[in-house]
Amino acid sequence: MSFEDLHDYISFLLNRKDLVKIDDTVDPDLELTYILSEEERVGKGRAIMFSNVKESSISAVGNLFSTHEKMRYILGEDPNTLGSRITNLVKPPPEKSSFIGKGLEMMKELGGLRPKITNTLPSDRNELEKVDLFRYPICKTWPQDGGKFITLPLVITKDPETGNRNMGMYRMQVYDSETTGMHWHIHKGGSEDYIKEKWRNETMDVAVVIGSDPLTIFSAVAPLPSGIDEFMFRGLISKKRSELVRGKTVDLEYPRNFEIVLEGYVDPSETRMEGPFGDHTGYYSLEEEFPVFHVRKIIEKKDRIYPTTIVGKLWHEDVVIGKTVERMFLPFIQMVMPEIVDINTMEEAVFHNMVIVSIRKMYPGHAKKVMFGLWSLGQLMFSKIIVVVDSDINIHDRKEVIWAMTTRIDPQRDVTIIPGTVTDSLDHASRIFNYGSKLGIDATRKDASEGYTRRWPDVLEMPKDLEDRMKKLLKDRLMDK
Ligand SMILES: Cc1cc2nc3c(=O)[nH]c(=O)nc-3n(C[C@H](O)[C@H](O)[C@H](O)COP(=O)(O)O)c2cc1C
Repeated sequence: MSFEDLHDYISFLLNRKDLVKIDDTVDPDLELTYILSEEERVGKGRAIMFSNVKESSISAVGNLFSTHEKMRYILGEDPNTLGSRITNLVKPPPEKSSFIGKGLEMMKELGGLRPKITNTLPSDRNELEKVDLFRYPICKTWPQDGGKFITLPLVITKDPETGNRNMGMYRMQVYDSETTGMHWHIHKGGSEDYIKEKWRNETMDVAVVIGSDPLTIFSAVAPLPSGIDEFMFRGLISKKRSELVRGKTVDLEYPRNFEIVLEGYVDPSETRMEGPFGDHTGYYSLEEEFPVFHVRKIIEKKDRIYPTTIVGKLWHEDVVIGKTVERMFLPFIQMVMPEIVDINTMEEAVFHNMVIVSIRKMYPGHAKKVMFGLWSLGQLMFSKIIVVVDSDINIHDRKEVIWAMTTRIDPQRDVTIIPGTVTDSLDHASRIFNYGSKLGIDATRKDASEGYTRRWPDVLEMPKDLEDRMKKLLKDRLMDK
């Protein structure tokens, strides 16, 4: 199943009693986000629609991605199965299967790949006479936030050299009725397009869609390699072509099922202080200079709804999105590094701050090879700490991980520090913005090939046949009594 647009998804959630409506007057300044946050932290994680937001006649909706169940409906299947299905497309068929069969299967799967582009807007879309961002129920999430932020925008740009589209989710601080910040981090797709425009000294067109079907929204967050079109990715998942429409004042295409679209531009010679903003890390991300987005035109759906999200410490829906990304992208990572058995990016480590990876170790230095491979692979470049363990460790069990980390390392030999490289823009602990160090811990077993001169002890284990016999005896004699 794929949802037509945000309204279709909201109806689906309502039918499943996974969305509640609040008609009381709610302030977009802290109150609305507090309610969303508490529903995620101590409630059932339902989506919430606010029909009466102070100083706006437009309804707001949040918690659209707040549970793994919702994510499965949005993707249409389990994220790991989905990742494997897409990865299998680029793998050669097994020895005995037919190439024709594989070809037909590929054609079916790739049917949704190319977006359909039209010039005409659906009839229920209106071009507003005046640009006024203050008409929307844009929220301030945390007390020390620098202002109101659009938190679920789909920012669409084009690479001026290749013409490739990019869609990323980058928060936007509202400065006035026509201007916002553009918080694309330096390593992200939108920023790459911006840097190239800067080299050419050209003003760049930007379109920002607020509200679309949930799979399109998820595709903006997915960590795709540069040059891979998010709308193709969306089409691959849904097996249905994405429908785009050409902008009125921008040389860009954006999803035709939008609720609100802001067409405008970023002038590469202009920056402005952005932030602070209560962030995924559980801290306020500090004020920094970022580009500025000027809105030229707004087009809206007649009964538009404004979607929002909150980020913060541990329990918010970015955690559900992060885990979905991890499970879905594991098969892609395994295609590049087949020795990887599993990966665990943990919410308490803000996902990429500590990545645990288990491998089938084959040769000396293998754990380090995996660390360097991950530090070079897409957004895994942001991993601050990578811990590599053997495949006998269940990396989703924190106790087993700590056991391996403490019993399989000699710190001088097994700890690697990379003094200066890429860091996530949100890492406030690094000494310089966007630049800092990395830590790699090789917690795999060692042998003579890595200079270990002693005998590595065996792990405590009972013989399998004894275990089976005793389990039966225990069950018969003790458990059933
Ligand atoms: C709610 C939310 C807010 C986000 N805000 C930002 C942001 O302000 N800046 C940023 O660079 N990435 C942000 N991200 C992460 C990016 O959307 C993500 O890294 C995405 O893959 C970027 O796409 P790109 O590779 O096409 O740039 C956010 C993600 C979520 C879920």
